[in-house]
Amino acid sequence: MNFHTPVLVDEVIDYLNIQKGCWYIDATLGGGGHTCLILEKGGKVLGIDQDPQAILEVAKKFNQAIAEKRLILNQGNFANIKKIVNDETISGVLFDLGVSSYQLSSLRGFSFSKDAPLDMRMDPKIGVQAADLINGLYEGELADLFGRLGEEKFAKKVAGKIVEERKLRKIETTKQLADLIISVKHRRVHDKIHPATQVFQALRIAVNDELNNLKIALPQALNVLGKEGRLLVISFHSLEDRIVKNFFRVMEDKGMVKILTKKPITPSENEILSNPRSRSAKLRAVEKI
Ligand SMILES: C[S@@+](CC[C@H](N)C(=O)[O-])C[C@H]1O[C@@H](n2cnc3c(N)ncnc32)[C@H](O)[C@@H]1O
Repeated sequence: MNFHTPVLVDEVIDYLNIQKGCWYIDATLGGGGHTCLILEKGGKVLGIDQDPQAILEVAKKFNQAIAEKRLILNQGNFANIKKIVNDETISGVLFDLGVSSYQLSSLRGFSFSKDAPLDMRMDPKIGVQAADLINGLYEGELADLFGRLGEEKFAKKVAGKIVEERKLRKIETTKQLADLIISVKHRRVHDKIHPATQVFQALRIAVNDELNNLKIALPQALNVLGKEGRLLVISFHSLEDRIVKNFFRVMEDKGMVKILTKKPITPSENEILSNPRSRSAKLRAVEKI
Protein backbone atom coordinates (compact mmCIF):
# COMPACT_ATOMS: atom_id res chain seq x y z
CA MET A 1 0.00 0.00 0.00
CA ASN A 2 1.10 3.56 -0.76
CA PHE A 3 2.06 5.18 2.59
CA HIS A 4 0.34 8.46 1.65
CA THR A 5 -0.49 10.40 -1.54
CA PRO A 6 0.52 14.06 -1.11
CA VAL A 7 -2.18 16.67 -1.83
CA LEU A 8 -1.98 19.95 -3.80
CA VAL A 9 1.47 19.04 -5.09
CA ASP A 10 1.83 21.69 -7.84
CA GLU A 11 0.36 24.38 -5.60
CA VAL A 12 2.76 23.54 -2.74
CA ILE A 13 5.73 23.70 -5.11
CA ASP A 14 4.52 27.03 -6.49
CA TYR A 15 3.90 28.72 -3.16
CA LEU A 16 7.03 27.37 -1.44
CA ASN A 17 9.11 28.98 -4.22
CA ILE A 18 11.88 26.42 -3.76
CA GLN A 19 15.46 27.66 -4.20
CA LYS A 20 18.32 25.22 -4.79
CA GLY A 21 20.44 24.56 -1.70
CA CYS A 22 18.08 26.36 0.72
CA TRP A 23 16.52 24.72 3.79
CA TYR A 24 12.82 23.90 4.13
CA ILE A 25 10.92 22.36 7.01
CA ASP A 26 8.34 19.69 6.33
CA ALA A 27 6.65 19.86 9.74
CA THR A 28 4.34 16.92 8.93
CA LEU A 29 6.59 14.47 7.13
CA GLY A 30 4.09 11.55 6.84
CA GLY A 31 5.22 9.37 3.94
CA GLY A 32 7.59 12.07 2.71
CA GLY A 33 5.48 12.92 -0.36
CA HIS A 34 6.00 16.68 -0.14
CA THR A 35 9.56 16.24 1.11
CA CYS A 36 10.36 14.23 -2.02
CA LEU A 37 9.17 17.11 -4.22
CA ILE A 38 11.28 19.67 -2.35
CA LEU A 39 14.35 17.44 -2.64
CA GLU A 40 13.73 16.95 -6.37
CA LYS A 41 13.66 20.74 -6.83
CA GLY A 42 17.07 21.01 -5.16
CA GLY A 43 15.91 22.14 -1.70
CA LYS A 44 17.17 20.63 1.56
CA VAL A 45 14.66 19.39 4.11
CA LEU A 46 14.30 19.06 7.84
CA GLY A 47 11.43 16.61 8.22
CA ILE A 48 9.48 16.44 11.47
CA ASP A 49 6.82 13.93 12.49
CA GLN A 50 5.61 12.85 15.89
CA ASP A 51 4.87 9.36 14.60
CA PRO A 52 7.99 7.14 14.80
CA GLN A 53 6.57 4.92 12.03
CA ALA A 54 6.62 7.86 9.61
CA ILE A 55 10.23 8.62 10.48
CA LEU A 56 11.24 4.97 9.95
CA GLU A 57 9.46 4.80 6.61
CA VAL A 58 11.03 7.99 5.27
CA ALA A 59 14.49 7.07 6.61
CA LYS A 60 14.30 3.86 4.56
CA LYS A 61 12.99 5.57 1.42
CA PHE A 62 15.40 8.49 1.39
CA ASN A 63 18.59 6.98 2.80
CA GLN A 64 20.69 8.56 0.04
CA ALA A 65 19.42 12.09 0.69
CA ILE A 66 20.13 11.53 4.40
CA ALA A 67 23.67 10.32 3.64
CA GLU A 68 24.22 13.40 1.46
CA LYS A 69 22.99 15.63 4.31
CA ARG A 70 20.15 17.02 2.17
CA LEU A 71 17.58 15.54 4.51
CA ILE A 72 17.47 15.53 8.31
CA LEU A 73 14.72 13.73 10.19
CA ASN A 74 13.40 14.52 13.64
CA GLN A 75 10.81 12.56 15.57
CA GLY A 76 9.04 15.23 17.55
CA ASN A 77 6.03 17.47 17.88
CA PHE A 78 5.87 20.52 15.64
CA ALA A 79 4.73 22.45 18.71
CA ASN A 80 8.49 22.41 19.56
CA ILE A 81 9.63 23.61 16.15
CA LYS A 82 11.69 26.50 17.53
CA LYS A 83 13.65 24.17 19.81
CA ILE A 84 14.08 21.57 17.08
CA VAL A 85 15.32 24.03 14.46
CA ASN A 86 17.25 26.66 16.41
CA ASP A 87 17.77 28.78 13.29
CA GLU A 88 16.22 31.83 11.67
CA THR A 89 17.19 31.38 8.06
CA ILE A 90 14.73 28.76 6.90
CA SER A 91 13.28 29.43 3.43
CA GLY A 92 9.93 27.73 3.89
CA VAL A 93 7.80 25.75 6.34
CA LEU A 94 5.01 23.41 5.30
CA PHE A 95 2.27 21.97 7.52
CA ASP A 96 0.04 19.32 5.93
CA LEU A 97 -2.22 18.68 8.90
CA GLY A 98 -4.18 15.65 10.03
CA VAL A 99 -3.54 11.94 9.60
CA SER A 100 -1.73 10.04 6.85
CA SER A 101 -3.34 7.24 4.84
CA TYR A 102 -0.90 4.92 6.55
CA GLN A 103 -2.19 5.93 9.99
CA LEU A 104 -5.81 5.54 8.83
CA SER A 105 -5.17 2.05 7.54
CA SER A 106 -3.13 0.94 10.58
CA LEU A 107 -4.68 -0.87 13.53
CA ARG A 108 -4.25 2.15 15.78
CA GLY A 109 -7.88 3.15 16.05
CA PHE A 110 -7.99 6.18 13.72
CA SER A 111 -10.62 4.69 11.42
CA PHE A 112 -14.10 3.30 12.01
CA SER A 113 -13.67 1.05 8.98
CA LYS A 114 -10.99 -1.07 10.70
CA ASP A 115 -11.80 -2.88 13.93
CA ALA A 116 -8.99 -1.99 16.31
CA PRO A 117 -8.34 -0.80 19.87
CA LEU A 118 -9.51 2.80 20.46
CA ASP A 119 -6.03 4.30 20.64
CA MET A 120 -5.61 7.20 18.10
CA ARG A 121 -2.25 8.43 19.42
CA MET A 122 0.04 9.67 16.64
CA ASP A 123 2.95 9.54 19.10
CA PRO A 124 2.91 6.40 21.28
CA LYS A 125 4.34 8.49 24.16
CA ILE A 126 1.11 10.52 24.48
CA GLY A 127 -0.44 9.60 27.84
CA VAL A 128 -4.14 9.41 26.91
CA GLN A 129 -5.81 7.12 24.40
CA ALA A 130 -9.28 7.56 22.86
CA ALA A 131 -10.64 4.70 25.01
CA ASP A 132 -9.57 6.61 28.16
CA LEU A 133 -11.70 9.58 27.08
CA ILE A 134 -14.67 7.44 26.04
CA ASN A 135 -14.68 5.48 29.30
CA GLY A 136 -13.47 8.23 31.63
CA LEU A 137 -15.12 11.56 30.76
CA TYR A 138 -18.44 12.66 32.26
CA GLU A 139 -21.44 12.67 29.94
CA GLY A 140 -21.41 16.49 29.66
CA GLU A 141 -17.69 16.50 28.86
CA LEU A 142 -18.18 13.93 26.10
CA ALA A 143 -21.06 15.91 24.62
CA ASP A 144 -18.97 19.09 24.71
CA LEU A 145 -16.02 17.35 23.06
CA PHE A 146 -18.12 15.87 20.23
CA GLY A 147 -19.91 19.19 19.66
CA ARG A 148 -16.85 21.43 19.80
CA LEU A 149 -14.22 19.33 18.03
CA GLY A 150 -16.47 17.24 15.78
CA GLU A 151 -19.30 19.73 15.17
CA GLU A 152 -21.53 16.68 15.80
CA LYS A 153 -25.24 17.60 15.87
CA PHE A 154 -26.17 14.54 17.92
CA ALA A 155 -23.40 15.11 20.48
CA LYS A 156 -25.67 14.87 23.54
CA LYS A 157 -27.47 11.77 22.30
CA VAL A 158 -24.21 9.98 21.46
CA ALA A 159 -22.70 10.92 24.84
CA GLY A 160 -25.82 9.62 26.63
CA LYS A 161 -25.66 6.32 24.77
CA ILE A 162 -21.94 5.91 25.55
CA VAL A 163 -22.57 6.40 29.26
CA GLU A 164 -25.45 3.91 29.18
CA GLU A 165 -23.35 1.33 27.31
CA ARG A 166 -20.21 1.64 29.43
CA LYS A 167 -22.21 0.79 32.58
CA LEU A 168 -22.54 -2.67 31.01
CA ARG A 169 -19.08 -3.05 29.47
CA LYS A 170 -16.05 -0.94 28.68
CA ILE A 171 -15.97 0.53 25.18
CA GLU A 172 -12.58 -0.51 23.87
CA THR A 173 -12.74 -0.93 20.09
CA THR A 174 -13.53 1.21 17.07
CA LYS A 175 -16.29 -1.20 16.02
CA GLN A 176 -18.02 -1.01 19.43
CA LEU A 177 -17.99 2.78 19.24
CA ALA A 178 -18.99 3.02 15.56
CA ASP A 179 -21.90 0.57 16.06
CA LEU A 180 -23.10 2.54 19.05
CA ILE A 181 -23.02 5.82 17.09
CA ILE A 182 -24.89 4.21 14.19
CA SER A 183 -27.56 2.99 16.64
CA VAL A 184 -28.09 6.58 17.80
CA LYS A 185 -27.85 8.42 14.48
CA HIS A 186 -29.16 5.75 12.10
CA ARG A 187 -27.40 5.57 8.77
CA ARG A 188 -29.37 7.07 5.90
CA VAL A 189 -28.76 6.12 2.27
CA HIS A 190 -28.13 9.71 1.17
CA ASP A 191 -25.61 10.42 3.98
CA LYS A 192 -22.39 11.60 2.36
CA ILE A 193 -20.21 10.65 5.31
CA HIS A 194 -20.25 7.74 7.76
CA PRO A 195 -22.24 8.63 10.93
CA ALA A 196 -19.14 8.09 13.09
CA THR A 197 -16.92 10.53 11.14
CA GLN A 198 -17.36 13.56 13.42
CA VAL A 199 -17.05 11.71 16.73
CA PHE A 200 -13.88 9.99 15.52
CA GLN A 201 -12.50 13.35 14.35
CA ALA A 202 -13.27 14.91 17.73
CA LEU A 203 -11.53 12.11 19.62
CA ARG A 204 -8.45 12.22 17.38
CA ILE A 205 -8.14 16.00 17.76
CA ALA A 206 -8.48 15.71 21.56
CA VAL A 207 -6.06 12.78 22.01
CA ASN A 208 -3.35 14.51 19.96
CA ASP A 209 -4.19 18.03 21.20
CA GLU A 210 -4.17 19.04 17.55
CA LEU A 211 -5.62 22.56 17.75
CA ASN A 212 -3.37 23.68 20.58
CA ASN A 213 -0.30 22.26 18.87
CA LEU A 214 -1.17 24.21 15.73
CA LYS A 215 -1.73 27.45 17.68
CA ILE A 216 1.61 27.04 19.43
CA ALA A 217 3.50 26.05 16.29
CA LEU A 218 2.43 28.81 13.87
CA PRO A 219 4.25 31.75 15.56
CA GLN A 220 7.33 29.57 16.02
CA ALA A 221 7.29 28.61 12.34
CA LEU A 222 7.17 32.27 11.39
CA ASN A 223 10.02 32.91 13.78
CA VAL A 224 12.42 30.41 12.19
CA LEU A 225 11.79 31.79 8.69
CA GLY A 226 14.26 34.18 7.11
CA LYS A 227 13.08 37.33 5.27
CA GLU A 228 10.82 36.39 2.32
CA GLY A 229 10.50 32.87 3.71
CA ARG A 230 7.17 31.19 3.03
CA LEU A 231 4.80 29.57 5.51
CA LEU A 232 2.24 27.15 4.03
CA VAL A 233 -0.54 25.33 5.85
CA ILE A 234 -2.86 22.69 4.40
CA SER A 235 -5.83 22.07 6.68
CA PHE A 236 -8.67 19.58 6.40
CA HIS A 237 -11.47 21.00 8.54
CA SER A 238 -12.88 24.37 9.49
CA LEU A 239 -11.50 24.37 13.05
CA GLU A 240 -7.92 24.21 11.78
CA ASP A 241 -8.54 26.54 8.86
CA ARG A 242 -10.01 29.20 11.16
CA ILE A 243 -6.88 29.14 13.35
CA VAL A 244 -4.63 29.53 10.30
CA LYS A 245 -6.76 32.26 8.70
CA ASN A 246 -6.92 34.31 11.91
CA PHE A 247 -3.21 33.92 12.62
CA PHE A 248 -2.29 35.06 9.10
CA ARG A 249 -4.64 38.08 9.35
CA VAL A 250 -3.24 39.18 12.72
CA MET A 251 0.33 38.83 11.42
CA GLU A 252 -0.55 40.82 8.30
CA ASP A 253 -2.10 43.59 10.44
CA LYS A 254 1.15 43.71 12.42
CA GLY A 255 3.09 44.10 9.17
CA MET A 256 4.95 40.83 9.63
CA VAL A 257 3.68 38.90 6.62
CA LYS A 258 2.12 39.32 3.23
CA ILE A 259 -0.81 36.98 2.60
CA LEU A 260 -0.26 35.17 -0.72
CA THR A 261 -3.61 33.37 -0.86
CA LYS A 262 -6.51 35.82 -0.46
CA LYS A 263 -8.79 32.80 -0.64
CA PRO A 264 -7.67 29.30 0.32
CA ILE A 265 -6.41 27.14 -2.55
CA THR A 266 -8.44 23.95 -3.02
CA PRO A 267 -7.79 20.85 -5.13
CA SER A 268 -8.97 20.53 -8.73
CA GLU A 269 -11.81 18.16 -9.61
CA ASN A 270 -9.25 15.85 -11.19
CA GLU A 271 -7.25 15.67 -8.00
CA ILE A 272 -10.38 14.97 -5.95
CA LEU A 273 -11.33 12.19 -8.38
CA SER A 274 -7.92 10.54 -8.20
CA ASN A 275 -7.43 11.16 -4.45
CA PRO A 276 -10.78 11.58 -2.62
CA ARG A 277 -8.95 12.31 0.65
CA SER A 278 -7.89 15.66 -0.88
CA ARG A 279 -11.59 16.71 -1.03
CA SER A 280 -11.51 18.98 2.03
CA ALA A 281 -7.92 20.27 1.71
CA LYS A 282 -7.36 24.04 1.94
CA LEU A 283 -3.97 25.62 1.40
CA ARG A 284 -3.09 29.05 2.80
CA ALA A 285 0.29 30.72 2.40
CA VAL A 286 2.11 33.83 3.61
CA GLU A 287 5.51 35.39 2.97
CA LYS A 288 7.54 36.83 5.83
CA ILE A 289 8.31 40.52 5.44
C1 LIG B 1 -1.39 14.36 6.30
S1 LIG B 1 0.03 13.59 6.94
C2 LIG B 1 1.34 14.34 6.04
C3 LIG B 1 1.62 13.69 4.73
C4 LIG B 1 2.84 14.22 4.00
N1 LIG B 1 2.72 15.60 3.65
C5 LIG B 1 3.10 13.39 2.74
O1 LIG B 1 2.99 13.94 1.63
O2 LIG B 1 3.42 12.20 2.84
C6 LIG B 1 0.20 14.35 8.51
C7 LIG B 1 1.38 13.87 9.31
O3 LIG B 1 1.60 14.84 10.32
C8 LIG B 1 1.94 14.22 11.53
N2 LIG B 1 1.58 15.14 12.62
C9 LIG B 1 0.35 15.54 12.97
N3 LIG B 1 0.41 16.39 14.02
C10 LIG B 1 1.73 16.53 14.32
C11 LIG B 1 2.44 17.27 15.31
N4 LIG B 1 1.82 18.03 16.22
N5 LIG B 1 3.79 17.19 15.32
C12 LIG B 1 4.45 16.42 14.39
N6 LIG B 1 3.82 15.68 13.47
C13 LIG B 1 2.48 15.73 13.41
C14 LIG B 1 1.14 12.92 11.52
O4 LIG B 1 1.76 11.96 12.34
C15 LIG B 1 1.15 12.54 10.03
O5 LIG B 1 2.20 11.65 9.75
